[in-house]
Amino acid sequence: METARLALAGALLASGYALYAKPAPRPTAPSPQELVTTRQAGMDMAAATLILLKNASNNGAPLKTLAFPASGLAKFASVAPALFSENTKSLPSRAKPTVWTDRAGFEAKAADFVKATKALAAAAAAEDKAAFDAALASTGLSCKGCHDAYQVPPPAAKPG
Ligand code: HEC
Repeated sequence: METARLALAGALLASGYALYAKPAPRPTAPSPQELVTTRQAGMDMAAATLILLKNASNNGAPLKTLAFPASGLAKFASVAPALFSENTKSLPSRAKPTVWTDRAGFEAKAADFVKATKALAAAAAAEDKAAFDAALASTGLSCKGCHDAYQVPPPAAKPG
C-alpha cells in the first residue's frame, strides 16, 4: 500500500517535472510587430483588390465573379481597426498618433470602409452594375477619408 502510494507520488512528481521542463509554448497572441505587418499587408492587398475590381468592372466582367474578392475586402475592413491595437503605437509605421489619440474618429472612418465594402459585395452578388460602381467610388473615398487624417503620406516620388 505504502509502496503504491510512493510510486504514485513519484510518478506525479516526474510528470510535473516533465511539464515544467518543456520549452515555453509559443505565445497565443500575435506580437505587436506581427500586427503591424499584418495590417500593412492587408492594406497592400486592399489596394490590389480595389484595382482588380475596378478593372474587371470596366472590362464588363460578370459581377458575380467579383463577389469573392469584394467580400474579402469587406472582411478585412471589419477587423482593420483591431490591427491598430494600443501595443503597436510605438512601433515604426505610417500610422499617425491620431489613430490612438482620436480613436472615435478613426473607428468612424473604419465604419465608412465597412459600409462601402459591404455594399460592394452585395452589389456583386446581386449583379447590380450601377450599385457596384457607386460602391467602388465610395470604397475609394473611404480609403482616402481615413488616410487624410490618420496615415503619414508616403514619401513623395523623387523627380527624375
Ligand atoms: C480606418 C482607416 C483606414 C482605412 C479605411 C484604409 N486605410 Fe490604408 N492605411 C491606414 C493607416 C493608418 C495606414 C498606415 C499603416 C502602417 O504603416 O502601419 C495605412 C496604410 C496603407 C497602405 C500602405 C501599407 C504598407 O505596406 O505600408 C496602403 C497601400 C493602403 N493603406 C491602402 C488602403 C486602401 C486601398 C484602402 C481602401 C480600400 C485603405 N487603405 C483603407 C488607414 C486606413
